[in-house]
Amino acid sequence: MLDGKSILLVVTGGIAAYKCLEVIRRVREKGARVRCILTRGGANFVTPLALGALSEDRVFQDLFSLTDEHEIGHIRLSREADVVLVAPASANVLAKMAAGQADDLATTALLATDKPIMVAPAMNPAMWAHPATRANMAILEGRGVHRVGPTEGAMAESGEWGLGRMAEPDAIVAALESLFGGAADGLLKDRRALVTSGPTHEAIDPVRYLANRSSGKQGHAVATALARLGAATTLVSGPTHQPAPAGVHLVRVETAREMLDACLAALPVDVAVMAAAVADWRPADAARNKLKKPAKGGKSGGKSAPPALKLVENPDILATLGGRNEGRPQLVVGFAAETDAVVENAVAKRRAKGCDWLVANDVSAAAATFGGDDNQVHLITADGVEEWPKISKSAVAERLAQRIAETLEPA
Ligand code: PMT
Repeated sequence: MLDGKSILLVVTGGIAAYKCLEVIRRVREKGARVRCILTRGGANFVTPLALGALSEDRVFQDLFSLTDEHEIGHIRLSREADVVLVAPASANVLAKMAAGQADDLATTALLATDKPIMVAPAMNPAMWAHPATRANMAILEGRGVHRVGPTEGAMAESGEWGLGRMAEPDAIVAALESLFGGAADGLLKDRRALVTSGPTHEAIDPVRYLANRSSGKQGHAVATALARLGAATTLVSGPTHQPAPAGVHLVRVETAREMLDACLAALPVDVAVMAAAVADWRPADAARNKLKKPAKGGKSGGKSAPPALKLVENPDILATLGGRNEGRPQLVVGFAAETDAVVENAVAKRRAKGCDWLVANDVSAAAATFGGDDNQVHLITADGVEEWPKISKSAVAERLAQRIAETLEPA
């Protein structure tokens, strides 16, 4: 998908700049050409020599360089590429892009380009969470700028933990591939896919809810993998911190009932993969106002029992899709989250839910599947049970997408 593509990589200031060297290596392995613009900030973290050596091309740094302007010029530089990738994208460059500033070569090229732009933000979590950055990012996404990351993790410079780490090189490469339509000639071109991801939140009152530990990593990876193979993919996701995968239509929901509605609205599809951890129950009646704790010293002395939570069953989205007579997706795939007797429980669950395949994973605390980067699954089909090795969630997703592509009947 990247073969023959030309990428203009803008490297701005941030400790994550070292990762862009790996991005260059990987996209070049896939046959892409890379040209780099290095900002003054970026040059504090990587050298033009390193970028030039890996890209095997000139590195551009100065807007007013007579030689560069004479030989190629910033307008041509920005337009000769098929995509402009800003990695890492600092809070500063996002702010300048949102404001349309052009005070150096990088921002001038970003303003002048007529090609898609993808940013890989990287900054301190407080800077990423700041309303100014949120607003700038919203403006840019509203203008069609693609985003990959940031992800959650430890900050190299401060030891803080949070959302702000630049996406890993393989995620950036995958996002670039999706952007180029992974699509046009992929194994799943002309196919439609529906994926669910993340937890659902079921309100108890306006400030409290029932939820679970799903991060959305596995479901989002499945949507990414299907889109990379060319499927027109709708991702219906509960609340997560995962970035919207490039090239995927993302529908954000909160509750199981909203998730069901969004899934039904996405039909018809050829394949549905339900990786969301949907709450089986919800509070029967969410209170309109915040439930109050009895005041201390009242009649009960503040010791009255907590309010009883009456639960009612949520609709089962997987069983609803699997049981449809009309408009059933050709392939309905569920995930089973089990803490014990993983395979036995999942085999029974596959039948009970009327799905074709079930991907069973161990979600006991020891397995660290919820929120973790790796997963060890069993694929359960009508033909039997296959054990897959422990691999990254992206690798599980890619393997599953490949199997789906091989299994769907010809369109
Ligand atoms: O999000 P991560 O942190 O990456 O973790 C990934 C994961 C563990 C959440 C994921 O791999 C996974 O196992 N997802 C399914 C979780 C789940 O709800 O399992 P379950 O065994 O309770 O449900 C079985 C299937 O029924 C699932 O496909 C689920 O989406 C579906 N279901 C469940 C209840 C419900 N009301 N409607 C449903 O559609």
